[in-house]
Amino acid sequence: MSEEDYRGFQAFLAESCGIVLGEQKQYLLSTRLRPVLEEYGYASLRELLEHLRKGVGLGLRERVVDAMTTNETYWFRDGHPFELLATAVLPELERRRCPMPRIWSAACSSGQEPYSISIVVEDYLRARPHAFPGGVQVVGTDISPTMLKKARAGLYYEAEIQRGLPAPARERYFRRQRDCWEVAPEIRARVRFLDLNLLKPYALLGRFDMIFCRNVLIYFSSESRRDILGRMARILNPGGYLVLGASESLSGHTDEFQMVRAGGGILYRLRESFAPRR
Ligand SMILES: C[S@@+](CC[C@H](N)C(=O)[O-])C[C@H]1O[C@@H](n2cnc3c(N)ncnc32)[C@H](O)[C@@H]1O
Repeated sequence: MSEEDYRGFQAFLAESCGIVLGEQKQYLLSTRLRPVLEEYGYASLRELLEHLRKGVGLGLRERVVDAMTTNETYWFRDGHPFELLATAVLPELERRRCPMPRIWSAACSSGQEPYSISIVVEDYLRARPHAFPGGVQVVGTDISPTMLKKARAGLYYEAEIQRGLPAPARERYFRRQRDCWEVAPEIRARVRFLDLNLLKPYALLGRFDMIFCRNVLIYFSSESRRDILGRMARILNPGGYLVLGASESLSGHTDEFQMVRAGGGILYRLRESFAPRR
């Protein structure tokens, strides 16, 4: 691949989904785009790039972005955000008489994160059935149509189930379906999946009490991170929480949140002084 073509793909990805493709990632690019070349019948990456630039090829831009996303995820990833949801955030929302907490799993990949949230909520509500009169809503969003399709199907292979799902949760909230496990209806019912590019407006999502934005900001430039975090702050309810991935931090990106250390992990709480721009 020529240097010029590589720069062309870098620019396309940065502009369409915020992903910063670093130097020396030619191998990654060509491996991930090989199936796209085959599907669309292109002879080379250059031909694909030309069609992207001209805007031809039905669904081509979305297909390329889909192919270039990294979708690694697993159940109850990092543990502590889910423990803090159960032991700190939900009890606080109940004390504040929040009628219907809303939680957003931004960049939810194949659904393990929002379903893990829903399992925590289900356990909480089984113990405290009157905690939230309106129930709890979980919204999972992602840019990848392939991942969203899998998330909506709620079907996981044994190998996927083995990654982080505790056996009691599997027994309680999953049903065997031939070679897969299906998420139980009560866990699925509170999760809604939507197609959303984090670079685009969040206005249609409504407001949230907690946002999980994990293991996605690492792929973006610092300008995009700052923009995304600022816009997330504006759709959090007062006192709302943000949780990032284990290798991510807010430092230098925004001062709208204060760090809360609890249970061996870190949460970010919207500052009292934060007044959202309307
Ligand atoms: C590594 S996964 C993280 C999944 C989950 N949050 C976790 O921590 O396990 C990153 C996800 O971000 C999504 N993604 C990448 N760029 C995006 C964008 N611009 N808008 C929305 N989602 C994006 C990818 O499709 C992928 O599913």
